Amino acid sequence: MTPHHKSHSAQPSTQNKIKAEASLATVVKHLWPYIWPSDRGDLKARVLGALALLFAAKFVTIAVPYSFKWATDMLTEGKTDLPLPVILAGPVALTVVYTALRVSMQFFTQARDALFAAVAMNAVRRIANEVFVHLHQLSLRFHLERKTGGLTRVLERGREAIQQIVRMSMLTGAPTVVEFALILGVFFFQFDWRYALTVIVMIAAYLKFTTIATDWRISIRRNMNESDTDANTKAIDSLLNYETVKYFGAEAREAARYDRSMERYERNSVSSYVSLAVLNSGQGLIFSIGLMVVMILCINGIRNGTNTIGDFVLINAMMIQLYQPLNFMGMVYREIKQAVIDIEMMFDILGQNPEIKDKPDAPALQVDRAAVAFEDVHFAYDPNRQILKGVSFVVPAGRTLAIVGPSGAGKSTLSRLLFRFYAPQKGRITIDGQDIASVTQTSLRDAIGMVPQDTVLFNDTIGYNIRYGRWNATDAEVEEAARSAQIDDFIKSVPNGYKAQVGERGLKLSGGEKQRVAIARTILKSPPILILDEATSALDTFTEREIQVALDRVSQGRTTLVIAHRLSTIINADEILVLDKGEIVERGRHEELLELGGVYRAMWNRQREVDAAQEALRRAAEEEGKSVRVEIEA
Ligand SMILES: Nc1ncnc2c1ncn2[C@@H]1O[C@H](COP(=O)(O)OP(=O)(O)OP(=O)(O)O)[C@@H](O)[C@H]1O
Ligand SMILES: [Mg+2]
Repeated sequence: MTPHHKSHSAQPSTQNKIKAEASLATVVKHLWPYIWPSDRGDLKARVLGALALLFAAKFVTIAVPYSFKWATDMLTEGKTDLPLPVILAGPVALTVVYTALRVSMQFFTQARDALFAAVAMNAVRRIANEVFVHLHQLSLRFHLERKTGGLTRVLERGREAIQQIVRMSMLTGAPTVVEFALILGVFFFQFDWRYALTVIVMIAAYLKFTTIATDWRISIRRNMNESDTDANTKAIDSLLNYETVKYFGAEAREAARYDRSMERYERNSVSSYVSLAVLNSGQGLIFSIGLMVVMILCINGIRNGTNTIGDFVLINAMMIQLYQPLNFMGMVYREIKQAVIDIEMMFDILGQNPEIKDKPDAPALQVDRAAVAFEDVHFAYDPNRQILKGVSFVVPAGRTLAIVGPSGAGKSTLSRLLFRFYAPQKGRITIDGQDIASVTQTSLRDAIGMVPQDTVLFNDTIGYNIRYGRWNATDAEVEEAARSAQIDDFIKSVPNGYKAQVGERGLKLSGGEKQRVAIARTILKSPPILILDEATSALDTFTEREIQVALDRVSQGRTTLVIAHRLSTIINADEILVLDKGEIVERGRHEELLELGGVYRAMWNRQREVDAAQEALRRAAEEEGKSVRVEIEA
């Protein structure tokens, strides 16, 4: 391992290690309400039923070797002190009993598992759902920093781990403890203390070895998980960037990067298998030595007449029977410890406090006329880099305010603050005089329609994506919204129309089409406040005009904040702010700003030149009889 690798993985590992110690209790505490759910009498009944079956199975388990022993004693005719009914029944009947007991042992065990499955799966579902809901509560910041691929893996492994831990502890751990107790009793009373002592020593050695070996394996497994997550993240990231990879002909580089991660995974997986082999062999050795000792003790007993051949058979059968749960015991420890790690990563996420939280008893936003005000807003994503430096403005009810300015000035940031994805460090934002930080997020977001700069769509149909704006909208309303957003012609032109799939993140649609879908769904939502973040990418004049018509229509009568890249679209805005490096450097109406002769005027002139050139090109193309859509970077 290179030093670089080491420094990379050392920190989370040590962190995990410290936590893993104290965490089984925490995990059990966390899980308990799901296994014994107060509101589900049926599930509790299942837990009790499973427990009853558990004890039944274990008593039968002990009875099985006994029937075997009695049959053996009868056949060897060394029997003297057998219970009378046993002698009357004879060896054939005993063998039938033996079979029946074996069958019922298995039946009880399987019935218990089946009964308990509903409890375990209910717990899995409820926790997975809770985590999912929580993920949506966590801030945009969390999601931007977190890798989605890694996150889904954490969820997936956490889910498996819960299933594992619930089943392990309830279906294997508890039964094995019961069986130990029963077997120890038999060894002590049927044989003598030396037998019981041997079993105790053997089990103690076995468990000690198992825990030590398992702890060693856990660190290996943790590295394996980390490299697995890493490889997955790389693969997903690379595939999401499919187009970029092609632009730069970087397939080989991407493959090499992926392969480096997979190589780590390969190495760690091999160690994991090797260590498993070591563990299993060690366990087998310890057990076999214990088995040998009790069998030798028994042979001596037979020689000096205290034991029968049946006892020899009994002790062997019982020990062999013990091997399976004992082996499970190791697995229980292993799996529970591993599951704790996986579950912890999931609980870590559950434990993350949402950065933006509703205040206790926060009232709902009361929207009257929807006047929006920013008052001396300061904001930084990162404390080291101030993005907004005291921005103040008012959007009177029903008016349109436009914000323009160079890329990176902080325009989209303003919209994220109004939507309360982040909270300003200083200053406040109000709607109809109410600070948005003191009302519920739901009511705030209900009042705002957002057409983001880059629209990402759900990997479903166009109709689904439009209807997202208002779930109970009728087909007619969806179509009406599509018409207002100038996208209905496009939808009619594609095969399948509203049922056409848009592809992952909406990649099958062009930027302009995606944006019109976003506009349509916002029209459906019909909020009193509207934020329109114009796409930066240059759209052709035709599409741009279409979108403009759509936007004008939506913004009518609503308080609107337009973030504009195309100045021609905001000539009629009630006020225009020019934002530069987080400060408002100019403000006024279009004509006023032109007269001012500052930044705005310069931007306007430049854009007019571009527009003129674009227009000329279009005309030239039209004259040639072609209707070509010309795109020019602004
Ligand atoms: N999540 C984030 N974490 C850290 N910095 C960010 C984050 N989002 C944006 N920034 C930074 O904040 C600055 C303002 O970003 P913003 O998106 O508001 O710019 P913009 O004015 O909308 O630009 P554009 O015209 O290109 O859309 C940028 O320099 C950007 O790098
Ligand atoms: Mg932006």
